[in-house]
Amino acid sequence: MDSDVSSHVTDVSNLLYRHPELYEVVYDGANHAVARLAETILHDHLGRQPDSLLDIGCGTGRDLEYLAKHITDVAGVDHQQAMIDYARRRRPEIEFHVEDMRTLRLGRTFEAITCFGYALANVHANRDIDKVMATYASHSQPDTVLILEVIDPLRTDKLPRSFHIDIPDLRADAIAEYRHHPAQQLLERQRTWRRAQGLVHDHVNFRLLYPKELEYYLDNHHFEILGAYELPEKLNAASAFVAARYRGERS
Ligand SMILES: C[S@@+](CC[C@H](N)C(=O)[O-])C[C@H]1O[C@@H](n2cnc3c(N)ncnc32)[C@H](O)[C@@H]1O
Repeated sequence: MDSDVSSHVTDVSNLLYRHPELYEVVYDGANHAVARLAETILHDHLGRQPDSLLDIGCGTGRDLEYLAKHITDVAGVDHQQAMIDYARRRRPEIEFHVEDMRTLRLGRTFEAITCFGYALANVHANRDIDKVMATYASHSQPDTVLILEVIDPLRTDKLPRSFHIDIPDLRADAIAEYRHHPAQQLLERQRTWRRAQGLVHDHVNFRLLYPKELEYYLDNHHFEILGAYELPEKLNAASAFVAARYRGERS
């Protein structure tokens, strides 16, 4: 069931979220590199592809479309109505929900849960991160594999600085600048798009999580880290893909 969660989209301003069709132009997915890495990680730890997968912060649902080739039961969640409207139009065969990852409760479990594209980094406060961990746990069964794409705090210099859109309707270039706010463990990104119609300014803060901190949050919610993975150089070069296994509450 959809709920009105748009009020949670507060300090984020992003041209690509207002025009989801542009999201997949700017982030072209490098031939589904993230989804293919996820398949490898899932196979490493389950010995096969899972029967079910929930993608939290799924955006346009592109990764889900790829993963659905081998996983029959998939669902996606995002708190932005515009992203889910677009995902439903483009991928009508997939189940999507407009929900906030802090409060999401679908009332069922999945064999795999993914959270790609720094979706978790949009949650800033410690207590909210705990709520998201509780969401992961509440949709897990023993041995569920969780894969998080997080910003490696030691590789923020590898985050993309320039962006391009070149489609018949629109040509635009953007430059991003990043600023650390160490006391809050936030990384602020200001991005300015230049288009024929003028400038557009984007703004977002990413919460940085150090590895031991992430391990602590996960452990408190009965997940144990299985390993950290990277994509080949140049692809999502600031990303760590952290895989964890749900032990179950009694462990
Ligand atoms: C950079 S996009 C990544 C989308 C997709 N996972 C990908 O990798 O292409 C981050 C997504 O996280 C979503 N998001 C951020 N905070 C959220 C929250 N509290 N609950 C649900 N989704 C959230 C945003 O709406 C956005 O679609």
